[in-house]
Amino acid sequence: MRVLLAASEATPFAKTGGLADVASGLSKALAAIGHEVTLVLPHYRQVIKPGLIGELVGKVTIPVGEKRVEAEIRSTTLPGSTVRVLLIDQPDYFDRAGLYVEKGHDYTDNAERFIFFSRAVLEAARQLDLQPDVIHANDWQTGIIPAMLASEYRLQPWFQKTASVFTIHNMAFQGRYPWWEYKLSGLRWELFNWRQLEFYGELNLLKAGIAMSEIVTTVSPTYAREICRPEFGYGLDPALQTRGDALIGILNGVDTTEWNSAIDPALPLRYTVDTVREGKAACKAALQREMGLPVKPEAMVLGLVSRLTDQKGLGLIASRAADMFRADVQFVCLGSGEARYETWLQELKTQFPNKVGATIGFNEGLAHRIEAGSDAFLMPSQFEPCGLNQMYSLAYGTPPIVSNVGGLADSVVDCSPESIGNGTGNGFKFSQFTADAFLNCVWRAVGVFQHDKAAWNRLIRNGMTRDWSWARSAAEYVKVYNNARSRVK
Ligand code: ADP
Ligand code: GLC
Repeated sequence: MRVLLAASEATPFAKTGGLADVASGLSKALAAIGHEVTLVLPHYRQVIKPGLIGELVGKVTIPVGEKRVEAEIRSTTLPGSTVRVLLIDQPDYFDRAGLYVEKGHDYTDNAERFIFFSRAVLEAARQLDLQPDVIHANDWQTGIIPAMLASEYRLQPWFQKTASVFTIHNMAFQGRYPWWEYKLSGLRWELFNWRQLEFYGELNLLKAGIAMSEIVTTVSPTYAREICRPEFGYGLDPALQTRGDALIGILNGVDTTEWNSAIDPALPLRYTVDTVREGKAACKAALQREMGLPVKPEAMVLGLVSRLTDQKGLGLIASRAADMFRADVQFVCLGSGEARYETWLQELKTQFPNKVGATIGFNEGLAHRIEAGSDAFLMPSQFEPCGLNQMYSLAYGTPPIVSNVGGLADSVVDCSPESIGNGTGNGFKFSQFTADAFLNCVWRAVGVFQHDKAAWNRLIRNGMTRDWSWARSAAEYVKVYNNARSRVK
C-alpha cells in the first residue's frame, strides 16, 4: 500500500513531544512490512542537521487566502529505514526558533502556517505523482487535510481513490481560530457548519479531521472511549460520538532502534533483562552523579521526563513532594514548560539539595539516562492519550507509577499478589486524580521496593519482556487503512 503520513514533527528532524516519536516509529514499522511510506514534514530550522538535509525535488505555489506562497520540496530518507521524507521548505513560516511557540507564546500566524502546510502536502503529492492509497494526517496541524481531500482533491484523478485517516494525539490542542482564518483554506463556505469545521463560531482544525476523514483513530483504546465523554472530549465529545465504529483506539509502540537498553548509546552500561541488575545499578550511580545527588544505591530514585504542564500531573507532585521525601527517595526531573512549574522545580532543588536533581530544558540523552537510571518513573497524568515514557520505562526495567487513564491504563498493570503471580504486574496505578491517591501509590511502590525485592524484580521482568514494539500497532494501522479505503466509493 502507498501511505502518505503528514505530521508537524518527527524524530530526528524536529520534536516537541510524543507525536514526533510516533510519526517516525509508525512510518518505519509500516515500511518494514513492505508498505511504501512517504512522511511529509515542515522544513523547520531544527531540521538543518548533518545528514538530514534533503535534495530539491520540486516547487509548489500554494494559494493561502489572497496570497500565493511558494515553497520548495526537499526529499530525504528517514535514518535507518526506506521511508521517504518530504520537507516543505518555506522559510517565512518555518525558519523560526520554535515549532509552534516562542518565549511562551503561540505564533500568531499558526492557522496560516498549518493551513498552508496542509495544502502543500496535497500539492506535493500531486506534483510528485505519489498517488497515495491513504493519507494519514495527525493532530490539528494537519486536521484540515481530510477536509481538503474530501471536498476538493478527490475530484481530481490523482486522488479519486485516496482515503484519509486522522489520528488524534491530544484533544486538549484543537487549533481553534477566529472564523475569518477559514478564508485562508480556500474551502467552500458550506463546510463551515457545526457538523464539520465550525465550532462555536470559530474554525476548529481538529474538528475538521474528526468530521471529514474516513476513519478517526486515537492513540489508545481507553482514550478512544474517554474522549466520547465530556470530561475528556473538550467539547468535541458529541462530534466523536457520531463517528461510531469509525473511531478506533490503537496503542502506540516503542521504536526499538531508539529506545532499547541493550543498544542505547546514551547509557554508561547497556543491559538486557538478563543483565538488568548490574546494568541498572551502574546507570543509577551515574545518574545520581550527573544530577549532583549523593550516590546511594539504597535510595529509591523516582524519575520524571515531561512537558511541565497540568496534563502531566505536575500539580499532584508539587503538592506532595515534601511528603515523598520523608522516605529515602530521590527525585530526578527533566522537563520544560509552564513557568510556574519550572520555578517550583528550581525552588524544590534549593530546598532539598540531596533529594532533588532537576534539569530545565530538552535533552534527549538525559531523557534516556533517566529512564534507565531511575528505580521507578512518575507519570500521574490528569489525562494521557497514550504516553510513551511509561512504555520506555517498562522496556528499561523502571516500573512506572501512573494514574489509571488513557494509554497508561492500557499499558500498566498494577502490582498486586495476583498480577505478580500471573506474570502481568509491571507498575503501580491509582484511580482517583487526587494528591493523596498519588502519594499513597508512591508509598505502595516505596514499600515494595524497600521490603520485597523479589516482587520488585518480577515487576521489572514483566515490563521488560512484554512486546512494546511498533510491529503490533503497525499491523492494526494496516487494518484501519484498508477499512478507510473500503469507505471511499
Ligand atoms: P507528550 O507527547 O504528551 O509530551 P509522551 O509521553 O507521548 O508525551 O512523549 C513525550 C516524548 O518527549 C518522549 O519521547 C519524552 O522522552 C520526550 N520528552 C519530553 N520532555 C523532554 C525533555 N525535556 N527532554 C527530552 N525529551 C523529552
Ligand atoms: C500526545 C499525547 C501523548 C501521546 C503522544 C503521541 O502528545 O499527550 O499521550 O503519547 O501524543 O501519540
